[in-house]
Amino acid sequence: MKRLIIFAFVLVMTLRLRAQDGHQLWLRTNQPLSVRVVCARHSPTLDIAEQELKKGWHGTQGASIKLIIRKDKALKDGGFRLTKNSVEATTDIGILYGVYNLLRYQRTGDETGDGISNPSYQIRVLDHWDNLNGTIERGYAGNSIFWRKTDPFVVTEKDKTLWQQYARANASIGINGAVLDNVNASPKILSDNYLNRVKSIAAILRPYGVKVYLSVNFASPISLGGLKTADPLDASVIVWWKTKIKEIYGLIPDFGGFLVKASSEGQPGPQQYGRTHADGANMLADALKPYHGVVMWRAFVYTANDDDRAKQAYNEFKPLDGKFRDNVIIQVKNGPIDFQPREPFSPLFGAMKKTSVMPELQITQEYLGHAVYLVFLSTMWEECLKSDTYQQGKGSTVARCTDGSIYPQKYTAIAGVSNIGLDTNWCGHPFAQANWYAFGRLAWNDQLTSAQIADEWLKLTFYNDVSGKFGEKDYRSDWTKNFLNPVKEIMLDSRETAVNFMMPLGLHHIMSANGHYGPGPWWAPKGVRADWTPPYFHQASASGIGFDRTTKGSNAVSQYHEPLASELNNVATCPEIYLLWFHHLPWTYKMKNGQSLWNALCYHYDKGVKEVHAFQQSWNRVKPFVDGNQFNLVQIKLGQQYDNAVLWKDACILYFQQFSKMPIPKDIAPPVHKLKDIIANEFKHRNN
Ligand code: GCU
Repeated sequence: MKRLIIFAFVLVMTLRLRAQDGHQLWLRTNQPLSVRVVCARHSPTLDIAEQELKKGWHGTQGASIKLIIRKDKALKDGGFRLTKNSVEATTDIGILYGVYNLLRYQRTGDETGDGISNPSYQIRVLDHWDNLNGTIERGYAGNSIFWRKTDPFVVTEKDKTLWQQYARANASIGINGAVLDNVNASPKILSDNYLNRVKSIAAILRPYGVKVYLSVNFASPISLGGLKTADPLDASVIVWWKTKIKEIYGLIPDFGGFLVKASSEGQPGPQQYGRTHADGANMLADALKPYHGVVMWRAFVYTANDDDRAKQAYNEFKPLDGKFRDNVIIQVKNGPIDFQPREPFSPLFGAMKKTSVMPELQITQEYLGHAVYLVFLSTMWEECLKSDTYQQGKGSTVARCTDGSIYPQKYTAIAGVSNIGLDTNWCGHPFAQANWYAFGRLAWNDQLTSAQIADEWLKLTFYNDVSGKFGEKDYRSDWTKNFLNPVKEIMLDSRETAVNFMMPLGLHHIMSANGHYGPGPWWAPKGVRADWTPPYFHQASASGIGFDRTTKGSNAVSQYHEPLASELNNVATCPEIYLLWFHHLPWTYKMKNGQSLWNALCYHYDKGVKEVHAFQQSWNRVKPFVDGNQFNLVQIKLGQQYDNAVLWKDACILYFQQFSKMPIPKDIAPPVHKLKDIIANEFKHRNN
């Protein structure tokens, strides 16, 4: 019997120690201390705030904390004020945000400053590219948490639990909106059955302050409504949308609005009726206006013409500045092409002065190694948000041009394309959770540094991972020295490393087609439009490499404000990280460090590979601090990343060498693959 008890005890302990599956995200907590919560009012949101305090309190044992709602001129909606023993806000959701922040401060030991915190952006939204059959476009963490193929309209307890956990995670980092379906939208989303499901989802998300939005197909009046046209100026079309929108608000009174991808990559839109983006967006905006709904209208447009693809969105949207209704927000991807590992910021930021403009960031790692690579995207977003557009003088950063600091936008907003799916750990890669977290934190405070975000996330996610005693905040010095610091370093370096082994020095869009995983600089089958093929973007030839976007080339530089335009135009002042984005240069071009361009390219690829190897070694050393499952998973993925990095390096060096005809520097590891084998096996490499 005694043996049995010991066995059972050991089993329980083992299971407990091995219990980490990542599902709790950064919200892991147990062993709370006691706290008394005083709140004069009740509401679903305030009740959650109270429960969260009781579940996660790690302040003074037995403390008493007041939740106070009152007018406060220093607070914007959703903002909060923390004092020694109270959380104050003007709204219920402000209280909940205050509570989550207080709990985070307790866990991470952060300073609370003057205790006031206001969001940088009013709308902080996740865009789910979830299809109604349950698959996710560019999703790498399983199927949709909202939609499924079988029993699509049954709402189960499991669904509700998952949606509640999702909403809680979002609220904990300040995300207050979710677009539930893919931008390549099915008209079916606006049919009764689907809208009823949206209503059920909205009911679960509501107490956490997360509003629902829908992507809509511009041709819905035709495919769903049976009309002959979707022309935004046609009276029957206008009535159709008004009726549909009334129906939606009848079901979901706090519905957020629409996200629209129109006249873009084959999607229907106003241009097929000779109308502009403004005509299309305004028609929907007028119908949404009585309900305070917004239209997030995407500027991701380009057609297969001779004009540089990087210039097209600006050319199309800039002339429409001032022509949009005030409840239209133009949603602009961070870079002018398409979520590449590195792009300069889109010149539309700051250039549209009389229109609300919102950045769109991609959390899902479409071009950054899917759920295989460890890449902390925060540094990439920080780079974009802190880029100076100079549009209203020095210091007109992308952040300030979009968050209302410079222009009096009616709405300020920011979107992140979600990386969430049905995988137990939500995001596929344990470290991909950090990207969801970072998006929320930057949307709340666009001045945060990636170092701070990484620090917080690591503490919340990994401290006492092995013992399972979450909530202790007195970080042991060995943990800080041997886990926190080295892993933070991996995170902060990880994006530059990916750029090094994939697309250094301003190269872009040279990945394998379709799956967008692995190298493919050669891909250009006959009949495929040029601006979808890598050779269009790298322009490699015997004369050199890079896309000439200077005044002598496509002149994309002129879309930037001075002095930036001249800085980018001049090869001597163009930052080397953007060199081949803006310049076509001979292979022998002399870099700032004296190397030839060809050698510099080879060294960047080699550096990237070496860095991944260093990440592997670093990760191996942190084993004692990480739950076994999580440790192994990351270790395996780093191994795959290393193999893929070597493939990138070999493929790109060997491919470009055909043009440069120059030797690979002797002090880098020679290629282990043959180019013809890589090309032959291109689509066999993992590209889920
Ligand atoms: C990329 C991506 C597509 C997506 C598109 C968009 O091109 O590969 O899957 O639909 O962006 O943002 O609309």
